[in-house]
Amino acid sequence: MQKRDELYAGKAKSVFKTDDEKALILHFRNDTSAFDGKKIEKLDRKGKVNNLFNAFISEKLEEAGIATHFIKLLSDEESLVKKLDMFPIECVVRNISTGSLCRRLGVEDGLDLNPPTFEFFLKNDDLGDPMINEYHIESFGWAEASHVERMKELTFKVNGILQKLFLDAGILLVDYKLEFGLYDGEVMFGDEFTPDGCRLWDVETREKLDKDRFRQGLGDVVESYEAVARRIGVKLD
Ligand code: ADP
Ligand code: CDP
Repeated sequence: MQKRDELYAGKAKSVFKTDDEKALILHFRNDTSAFDGKKIEKLDRKGKVNNLFNAFISEKLEEAGIATHFIKLLSDEESLVKKLDMFPIECVVRNISTGSLCRRLGVEDGLDLNPPTFEFFLKNDDLGDPMINEYHIESFGWAEASHVERMKELTFKVNGILQKLFLDAGILLVDYKLEFGLYDGEVMFGDEFTPDGCRLWDVETREKLDKDRFRQGLGDVVESYEAVARRIGVKLD
């Protein structure tokens, strides 16, 4: 597999073409960003833990019958993935109220949500990733109705699989964001699942173990990611 030109440098990952036009290399960098890129820092070992974390989760999802873009690990910080035609949409499921949900609706932090709730956001840093609904998605042609249904179905299916995986390690999956794209006409899970894009709380202490440590300046960001990784069975060394 030959690495070719850089296609895109995002806030936390860089995307490279390969000699296979249907495959890309994702490079998980140490860069960590929050607040739509307004807070950025380099954190040692973050690229590695996120790359290995994402590979582990992707394999668990594949085993449970969810198609993902992940093909294989190439190095500590790089993975080979299927090239998707990404939807400019973020799918968020919330099992417990926190973050922007509480700011927006004035609801208490930490409420169990039964059933879990679902939100779409538009991927647009300049606009601060605004919340959108299914009508916006269809009216502006960001995705067609059948693909929207599939994204919702897959995002909830991931919830069932990952809530259990984390709970077995004494961790609550509070909320998370997924991105999808099309591969040969199929809606497929792309981008990543790492502590950068979800909230994870210790079930006993409710300590935050995810990117809120970075957002809120709590320290030990990568140490927490590594501790979660070890608890769920990711091999880091
Ligand atoms: P951002 O673009 O939000 O700054 P990243 O730094 O994570 O985020 O950049 C990675 C980019 O690569 C994202 O825009 C994501 O949508 C895109 N991407 C992730 N997986 C794939 C894939 N399999 N095919 C094409 N693009 C992808
Ligand atoms: O971070 P903030 O409180 O503004 O966002 P949220 O809407 O409460 O985030 C819900 C979940 O989606 C959290 O797990 C975030 O980490 C994740 N998310 C993300 O990964 N990327 C975004 N651009 C927005 C949210």
